[in-house]
Parts: sequence; structure tokens; C-alpha cells
Amino acid sequence: MKQEIDTLLQETIERLATIDNAKDVDRLRIDVLGRKGTLSHLFKKLGESPDEERPVLGKILNETRVRLESAFEEAKSRTTSISAHLTALDISLPGRLPHLGHLHPITLVSMEIAEIFQRLGFEVVEGPDVELDYYNFEALNIPKDHPARDMQDTFYVTDNIVLRTHTSPIQVRVMEKQPPPVRIIAPGKAYRCDSDVTHTPMFHQVEGLMVDKDVSFGDLKGVLTVFVHQMFGADVDLRFRPSFFPFTEPSAEVDIQCVMCRGEGCRVCSETGWLEILGSGMVDPEVFKMVGYDPEEVSGYAFGMGIERIAMLKYGINDLRLFFDNDLRFLEQF
Ligand code: DAH
Repeated sequence: MKQEIDTLLQETIERLATIDNAKDVDRLRIDVLGRKGTLSHLFKKLGESPDEERPVLGKILNETRVRLESAFEEAKSRTTSISAHLTALDISLPGRLPHLGHLHPITLVSMEIAEIFQRLGFEVVEGPDVELDYYNFEALNIPKDHPARDMQDTFYVTDNIVLRTHTSPIQVRVMEKQPPPVRIIAPGKAYRCDSDVTHTPMFHQVEGLMVDKDVSFGDLKGVLTVFVHQMFGADVDLRFRPSFFPFTEPSAEVDIQCVMCRGEGCRVCSETGWLEILGSGMVDPEVFKMVGYDPEEVSGYAFGMGIERIAMLKYGINDLRLFFDNDLRFLEQF
């Protein structure tokens, strides 16, 4: 009987090796391991074998059943996985590309602004986000007791160190380092302790500065007109409205024709037909004195704008928070 058991095991394993489909594996399994199969038959014969041989033969039979079961298990997974692959694999399909990310709309708009000014001869520079009170305020003609400090809800790191509330301190750092002429554009983050539907504690600005002999307000108007036309379209009107900033004199805010109603008057522009996009002016002589420039020798203009605002107007986005939610359905449109 031991001979019979060995033969069954060997033959079954040999036959399994030649089978390449799951159906034939199942068929053979029923023949060998099924209720009326060869192995059951051998278990029945065990009952008829001599008493002294029964324990040994029983052990062999049990071991054989385990080995056969695992051999069938293996054959089954071999045949099903091959057939599964053969139906799922279509080698004529184009390959799958890895998912590539792309630049954030704020980065894109910031780069676009910088590029427009680069074409006009401006150089891109950067400055530190964590800034000395001196550069953020003092050197921009905003002394400690100046009421203009109330306009900017400052994050103080220490008494003398702040998170910059605007990109204007970069102007000062550049002028301190080099003699005129200066023609720079400085994009970066700014921080104010302010958070509601139209304000976020961190936002982005671009600062511009031009200093040389005989720079006039007319030059400022010319450069900003080119900028508005390239950014929003040549048919978009702009106007300069008198304003105040401690670091420019005279100062002006620039409005563009409302991008929603084209100047007709609507909810977005509060029925005025105009939208404010930036602050600007002629560099105040006090600022020149701080950096060691002679206000009798040189003159210049400066301007600063919020990138989120430009992006919202350019793309017709009505909620500032969309820029910070990181919702791919929003971001993937750019
Ligand atoms: N720094 C100003 C702000 O954050 C914007 C600004 C206004 C910048 C006038 C300038 C300027 O350079 O001349 O509101």
C-alpha cells in the first residue's frame, strides 16, 4: 500500500506540471482529492490493513494529503494568474505617464509679472521674509510712532525683528548695496496679522523700483501703462488716483477698468467701474537720504502690488481662499 501512495503522489505531481489551465487542475483535483477520489479510496483501504501497519500508513497518508493539497494550490494559482494576466495585458496600449505636478497659479502670475518688467529692463531680486524693523519701517520713512504702522498689522518676532509686512524693504536693501541707477522687480511673501474672507496672514506682493537721473512721474505712468496692457489686455483702461504712502511723494494708486463689467459698474467694482490694483509714487527724498543717495542728484519711482489680487482679477476668481486650499480641481485649471 505504501507503494500505491508513493505512486499516486508522484504521478499527480508529474501530471500537474504538464497542466496549463485551471479547469484541468480542478478536474484532476476531483479525481485525486475528491470524495470518491483516489486518496479517499486509499483511506478506506487503510481500515483493512493489518493493525501494526495502520499507524505508520495513516501518518504517510495524512502527509501525502497535505502535500497533494499544496501542490494543487500551487498549480491553481500558477494557472489562474497566467490566464488573468493574458486577458488583462494589452501590450498595444500606450504607456501610462507618471502624474506630473505644475506651478501654483500664484507662482505663475508672479513669474508673468516679473517677465513683463524684465522685458522693460528690470532685474529680479529677492529679500528676507524675516526682516529688521529698520528695513520694514524705519528706512521707509515710517518711524516707531508713525500712524502708518497701524495700517499694517505686524507680526513681531522680537522688538526689532518682524515678518515683513510688505516687499518694500527690498528697495532699501538694494539701494544700500549699490549706487544708482537701479531698476529692480522684487516678488515675495508678505505677512500681516489679518485673516478674513479677503485677507490671509500670508500673501504675495511684487515690488518695483527705478532710480536714475531725471526719472519722472511720466516714466512711472508709462511703465505701469505697459504693464497693465500686457497683463490684462491692450484695451483695458487705467487711471492714477492721488494717495498717500510714507515712502513716496507724491503717491498714487492705480485703478484698472473693472474686468467684470468693463467699466459699466457692477457689484465687484462697487458700481464705480474701477478696481484698485497697486500703490505707487515718486521715492520720498527721506528714503534716499537713509540709503545715502543724494535726492538732488537722483529721482525715482516705486510701486507695489498684491499678486493674489492681480491673479483674481486676471482669472476672474472670486474667493481668495481658493489659492490656499490646495484643491486639485481648482489648481489643475492653470
Ligand atoms: N508697500 C505698500 C503696501 O504694502 C505698497 C506700495 C505702495 C509699494 C506704494 C510701493 C509704493 O513701492 O510706492 O501697501
